[in-house]
Amino acid sequence: MREVGPGARTTISFRVNGEAVEVEVAGDDRLIDVLREGLRLTGTKEGCGIGECGACTVLLDGKPVNSCLVPALQVEGREVETVEGLAKDGRVHPLQEAFIEHTAVQCGFCTPGMLMSALALLRETLDPTKEDIARAISGNLCRCTGYHQIMSAIEDAARKMKAAEAKTSKASGASEASKGGGGEC
Ligand code: FES
Ligand code: FES
Repeated sequence: MREVGPGARTTISFRVNGEAVEVEVAGDDRLIDVLREGLRLTGTKEGCGIGECGACTVLLDGKPVNSCLVPALQVEGREVETVEGLAKDGRVHPLQEAFIEHTAVQCGFCTPGMLMSALALLRETLDPTKEDIARAISGNLCRCTGYHQIMSAIEDAARKMKAAEAKTSKASGASEASKGGGGEC
């Protein structure tokens, strides 16, 4: 258990990227402080610190939030997801892959927040329109790439995730059919 801030008083428990954590926080600590300083999850970036740039976006119970605006005490018992949770089994997430392929990353400062906003959208739909994508990342500012590459990357990731999902359900359908194959005879 690590302390955050000189006046740490309260212990909060929550889950980060699927793992249970306990951290001592002061009343004025923000979620971003707990993530970056308390848990050393420095993938989440702080830009403006006032809820304007989206660099600090993480998912709280599946919804994108500006972690610079969320009081740490409010995450008690909740589920937080950060960019560190995207890669699985040594493989980057399709969104990360697409950002690289489409050169949607330059300085990378906005990227963790962009990825988390995009992830929330693609969990809702793998058929997002350009308007859906624009809306989903409307709170995330990028000063380098221009939004064209970022939007193309998200569209491409959605396409690939949808194809992968179709392949998986086809394979599991075939395996179910083979288990019950010829069952009537
Ligand atoms: S650092 Fe949180 S919105 Fe800019
Ligand atoms: S890549 Fe630099 S701010 Fe977006």
